Amino acid sequence: MPLAGKRILLVISGGIAAYKSLDLIRRLRERGAEVRPVMTAGAREFVTPLAVGALSAGHVYTDLFSREDEQDVGHIRLARDCDLVVVAPATADLMAKMAHGLADDLASTVLLATDRPVLLAPAMNPKMWAHPATRRNVETLRRDGLSFVGPNAGEMAEGGEAGLGRMAEPLEIVAAAEGLLDGGQRPLAGRRAIVTSGPTHEPIDPVRYIANRSSGRQGHAIAAALARLGADVTLVSGPVALPDPPGVRVVRVERAEEMLRAVLAALPADIAVMVAAVADWHVAAPGAEKIKKQPGKGPPPLMLAENPDILKTVGHHEQRPKVVVGFAAETQDVEKNGRVKLEKKGADLIVANDVSPQTGIMGGTRNSVKLITAAGVEEWPDLSKDDVARRLADWIAGRLT
Ligand SMILES: Cc1cc2nc3c(=O)[nH]c(=O)nc-3n(C[C@H](O)[C@H](O)[C@H](O)COP(=O)(O)O)c2cc1C
Repeated sequence: MPLAGKRILLVISGGIAAYKSLDLIRRLRERGAEVRPVMTAGAREFVTPLAVGALSAGHVYTDLFSREDEQDVGHIRLARDCDLVVVAPATADLMAKMAHGLADDLASTVLLATDRPVLLAPAMNPKMWAHPATRRNVETLRRDGLSFVGPNAGEMAEGGEAGLGRMAEPLEIVAAAEGLLDGGQRPLAGRRAIVTSGPTHEPIDPVRYIANRSSGRQGHAIAAALARLGADVTLVSGPVALPDPPGVRVVRVERAEEMLRAVLAALPADIAVMVAAVADWHVAAPGAEKIKKQPGKGPPPLMLAENPDILKTVGHHEQRPKVVVGFAAETQDVEKNGRVKLEKKGADLIVANDVSPQTGIMGGTRNSVKLITAAGVEEWPDLSKDDVARRLADWIAGRLT
């Protein structure tokens, strides 16, 4: 019962994903949590307080000016008498109100009055999520120290539209809540980390690019693991089909050049973990227009030029983070190449893995790595990428404390 004895205030706002909150209540309770629900007027248009009350086995709080509710616990106590506040779904509207400190109903008043950690699970149409106003509000809330889980990419419940905006699944929200409630295990609190993840796309022309098979799973898992230990994480990600890890600031880029700029912009930091499979080369002169087939002339020549070495730049930077970790994806002489990289790149640790196609590591969910430091080589067993991430985050925390 990982959430035994934990009291969770669940704020449900008015999005279509409110139906998933019913399952979320079940999932939280089956892990031992006590769930106290607060519903906005909008939420009550989607699911009834009767259903929410039946699943949470308790009172459902809806009105700011209800004499009974005020006599029962009162909005200030409601805001504080819990270990964690979860907002699921978090509508664009409620997040806008929170970002501006509005408090015109019970949910927004409680969110302004609470001094507990707050976890938001946004859910909305992709256009609403991408709107500059929502982007600003999310950034403000992150800066205010609130944590996020999702949204995920996929088809919207209304059907027809797909994109980033689906609420995280109840079990993902539970995992994020557990991470936040881990209690005291935040050795990286106050530390800043930069993680890169995914492949880069180097354009040939406006429609074609050179890429690689990196899925971003390992980098994203490391960003999440560092955030769980309390670090303030900036994840610079190439194009991937993964949800944003909870509690992490994500900067999306395509080319190696852009990735370097984003990494340098995120300095100073205490930790840099360069996991992205950055292309070594880009096309020297990408076509401004789509390159046409020219019958009889054969294929066009592709001149390549070298990309910046992001790990080496960070490893030798005047604002070099205290711990610099690089990943070395190799298909031969994994250990030897890892050692050479350690020195050349100015890294404290090279995590070397054999990405030969038969290992299934590139794009897969498991990883078997060797840790190469000045002190020697440590081989880890075959692990899930999440477990590699957890162990690596612990290793980094150990170096810093
Ligand atoms: C059918 C329908 C579905 C909606 N789904 C969402 C949604 O998923 N996310 C969202 O932010 N707003 C959604 N809205 C708009 C919100 O309900 C509206 O902004 C409302 O004022 C939110 O109130 P609240 O934030 O106080 O709960 C939807 C509206 C309708 C009519």
